[in-house]
Formats: sequence, C-alpha cells, structure tokens
Amino acid sequence: MSIFYRDMNHERIGSRWLEWEGHRNEIKLLISHTLSDAKDLGRAIVLGAGNCDDVDLHFFCDGFSQLTLVDIDAESLQEAINRLAPDLSERIELLGNVDFTKLDQVDFYNRLTDLLEQKTASSELCSFLIHIPSEMLEYSILNEWEGQFSVVISSAVYTQIFFIHVLTLFAVHVSNYTSEEVSAILGELRVLRNYIVKAYNDLMITLAEEDGYIIAWSDVVKFDEMSPFPEEQFYSIHSEEERIQFVFDIAGKQGREAAVVGMQDLHEKLIDQNRQFACWIWPYSSNRHYITFGLAGRVRKAEV
Ligand SMILES: C[S@@+](CC[C@H](N)C(=O)[O-])C[C@H]1O[C@@H](n2cnc3c(N)ncnc32)[C@H](O)[C@@H]1O
Repeated sequence: MSIFYRDMNHERIGSRWLEWEGHRNEIKLLISHTLSDAKDLGRAIVLGAGNCDDVDLHFFCDGFSQLTLVDIDAESLQEAINRLAPDLSERIELLGNVDFTKLDQVDFYNRLTDLLEQKTASSELCSFLIHIPSEMLEYSILNEWEGQFSVVISSAVYTQIFFIHVLTLFAVHVSNYTSEEVSAILGELRVLRNYIVKAYNDLMITLAEEDGYIIAWSDVVKFDEMSPFPEEQFYSIHSEEERIQFVFDIAGKQGREAAVVGMQDLHEKLIDQNRQFACWIWPYSSNRHYITFGLAGRVRKAEV
C-alpha cells in the first residue's frame, strides 16, 4: 500500500522547495494567527508531512518544544530531514509506515484487489465496502500518542488519504462492469471515503490535548490548462468578502469532494471562537495549481 504513496512522493522535482515558498508562507501565517494567544506551544505533530516541502522544519522547531512527523511513506520523511534539516534530526520524532485510515490493518487493498481480479459481482463488492467501517472500528492507531499534542497539523491529507488510491485500483477492472454497476460501486466508495475522512478528523482530535489546536489545509479546487483559474472575473471583484464568496462558489461547484467533506466536518468539530479560515493558491507544479483552504481552531474535545 505504501508503494502507491512512495511513488507519488518520489515524483517530487528538485525545485519544489523554492516554488512552494509562497504556499509555506501562507501556512506559517495561518499557524501564527491561530496560535497568537497560546502561552506554551508544547508539542506539535504533523500528519502527512511526506516530503516536508510545505512544512518549514526550522520554523516549527523554533516554535514548538518538540515536533513529531507522521506519514505512511517512511522513506520520504527520512529523506526530507536529511535534505532540509539534518541539524534538527535529534529534535524531530519520525513515525513512518502509519496508515491514518486503518485500511492496512484490515488488509483492505489486497482483499479488494482479489475481489476485482475474480470479477466479483458488483452487489458482493458493494457489501464488502459497506462492511469495512465496522471492521475498522476494531483497530486503533497512534493510541500511545493520544492527548499528547498541543497542536495537531494536517498537511493536505483529505484528497490523498483513500479515494485517489482506490480509484487507481478500480480503473484497471472497470471494463468488467456495466455502467450501472460502476455507478453503484463508485457510490459505495464515496460513502466509505466520507467515513474515512471524518474518522481522520476524529483521529486528529484524539491526538490533541484538552485545550489543543487543530490546523489543517487542503487542496480544494484544481486548475490546469484544461480548466484555468478565472483570473479576470476574480480580479474584477473589489471587496475581500465578495472574493471569498466567489472562491466558495467555485469550491461548491467543482471542489474535490474529499476536501469539501473534510473541511466541513472539521469546521463543525472546532469551537467557533477564534476559528481561523484562510484561502490561497498553491502552485503545485508548472501546469497544476490548487485553490487551497486552511482551517484552524481549538477542538470540541468532549463531543468526539
Ligand atoms: C499532498 S502530501 C502533503 C504534502 C507534504 N507535506 C509535502 O510537503 O510534500 C500528502 C501526504 O499524505 C500522505 N498520506 C496519504 N495517505 C495516507 C494515509 N492513508 N496514511 C498516512 N499518510 C498518508 C502521503 O504519503 C503524502 O506524504
């Protein structure tokens, strides 16, 4: 399973650190605004740290007494420390090979691949998918770290965590099913995706200490040559409020569903007071940019 993410992270090009400087600065601003009233910053954990191109490790180590980085792709974490902050290696704890979804623990991807290779009927596939959440409930992850962090950070995880991987597996077998069957299977995959994204938010909350903060950002709308950002319309708007509304409208129409579900769910799980929202363009690569949403605040811990 982690080979999928290893390959994605490995696609990283050498100039990325420089190209993502503006993106990193937006993240630093979001963090600084969120924590402006915090007295003792304590320990922070970053989920989905991966190549650490969006995580300024020196900024984090200056601010927090201890830093923990987690990802399914252990190699990328280690390579990032070696490349960006060998001087900080003693101060940073790395937790690799951790699957936030618990799908590894229920052997989901191997079982799904077997079912697809056997051309299993769509109704049976759907019932397999429907039962996965109840299996996942029997497992837990990162329980040693529960309640340990004053700040829990999620780095663009919602859109990566499950759907993109499962669709890649399913695509190879799609021709074995009618279009109605494909719709039914995709419907169940979406339900499972939404469950996983919300369970991931709950995981972040369990990692946070009583009055802890959650800070998350996610790519929400993709722009490329086929669907460019509507610059003219955007820059003809004069007020900040109308610009934000314009961006929300685009996100509502063409936003990545996993990101929208994750952000909405997290919004409900954070205390209203001093909740922060930010929005910026992430120049992901030369031909792909994303509208990115950042959301942060204190957790409603008792209600999870
Ligand atoms: C878009 S990247 C975030 C950007 C990254 N911080 C960087 O600077 O390169 C998302 C990260 O989430 C990790 N990830 C995706 N699905 C995961 C899962 N199920 N469990 C743990 N990590 C996962 C990926 O390996 C990847 O490093």
